[in-house]
Amino acid sequence: MRKAIALQPADHTMRVAPGRRGPPSFGQEVEIRGVSKFYGDMRAVDAVSLKVAPGEFLSLLGPSGSGKTSLLMMIAGFETADQGTISVGTRDLTYVAPNERGIGMVFQKYALFPHMTVAQNIAFPLKMRKFPADDIRRKVQETLALVRLEDYGERMPSQLSGGQQQRIAVARAIVFEPPVLLMDEPLGALDKKLREQLQIEIKQLQQRLGITVIYVTHDQEEALTMSDRVAVMCHGRLEQIGTPVELYERPGSALVADFIGKMNFIDGEWVGLGGAAGIVRVKNCGSLAAHGNPRGSDAVLAARQPVRMAIRPEQWRISKQGQGGEYVLDGVIQNAIFVGSYRVFLVRLADEGVVQVQLPAGQASQHLAEGESVELSCEPEAIHLFPARIAG
Ligand SMILES: Nc1ncnc2c1ncn2[C@@H]1O[C@H](COP(=O)(O)OP(=O)(O)O)[C@@H](O)[C@H]1O
Ligand SMILES: [Mg+2]
Repeated sequence: MRKAIALQPADHTMRVAPGRRGPPSFGQEVEIRGVSKFYGDMRAVDAVSLKVAPGEFLSLLGPSGSGKTSLLMMIAGFETADQGTISVGTRDLTYVAPNERGIGMVFQKYALFPHMTVAQNIAFPLKMRKFPADDIRRKVQETLALVRLEDYGERMPSQLSGGQQQRIAVARAIVFEPPVLLMDEPLGALDKKLREQLQIEIKQLQQRLGITVIYVTHDQEEALTMSDRVAVMCHGRLEQIGTPVELYERPGSALVADFIGKMNFIDGEWVGLGGAAGIVRVKNCGSLAAHGNPRGSDAVLAARQPVRMAIRPEQWRISKQGQGGEYVLDGVIQNAIFVGSYRVFLVRLADEGVVQVQLPAGQASQHLAEGESVELSCEPEAIHLFPARIAG
């Protein structure tokens, strides 16, 4: 195995002649096949398979402890996969040392060398690769310009703000034009405003360079904003992978539905009407029309089967009592909150807690007052049905 790898062509980045900017798009495909990682008995990463296209921005999204960093470390080569293989382009990297993978990496903590200037930090990967001094100087300056810190080369890392340090960490990771850039919660230590600004900067840089990025975050908004596709991880498993819109509109499990965007969950009982259509009866508060087949299963719902409905806040309609139609849930407006372009209504249902409703802040929502009895309804398509048991 190791021998075969030694016969592979040298590091991709070395094939780009030193001193010449790489092709406008130098991202490569990453393929992960059945990769698992154990720590003792604990399976931190559980048979994950996924493919990242050249130049794609993929986020690994999941709660803390879901295995994101472990998976990234195996791609970087700092951890070895216990099962499965990892390849970049046509090259199997499973047993290749990290420094021979030619992959760029940015960590949450800035991890700049504190005793080197900014320019020396950025030059480091090029020196390791034995680029000529002239090329190093020019590439360092070009890359500083890419992260908009042209005049900071002579500073020490301690003289930079957190956001600037992270931009330098990005510069150091891309200066040798790696085919893949890995980032592990790179903006986690920054405040919200700076984080949002750097999200855009990183995204623009990635698009400009055509680099393949695998980006770890536990922040769903960040993942949705930046990514071409998002891989949702939980307990070491890949729960679902898709575009932000796919995950938002067609969550494959209650877990993904809960994790991506805001979601209301309401438990009820399935009452089939024939075919795939039916109604869900909610104890003591009414019923809603829905389409059958729970997400993530082909199972046909049995009569009176407990189900869990998931409905986005912006999918609800609110009507005055008696005006909502046949399939409605009765509730009382507990709070009406003005949030600029929209209003949020917290509506209390009899036995099912409080539902969040989001309406545009126009005329239609103006007259709805706190304490008012109302009816909630939505389109059958807006209801994601999950088997109640799995939803937990
Ligand atoms: N070096 C290690 N030794 C033992 N357990 C580890 C080690 N690294 C991670 N873990 C465990 O593996 C699981 C996944 O961790 P990690 O990959 O860091 O998740 P995430 O990045 O999603 O927060 C966690 O339960 C964590 O405690
Ligand atoms: Mg982590």
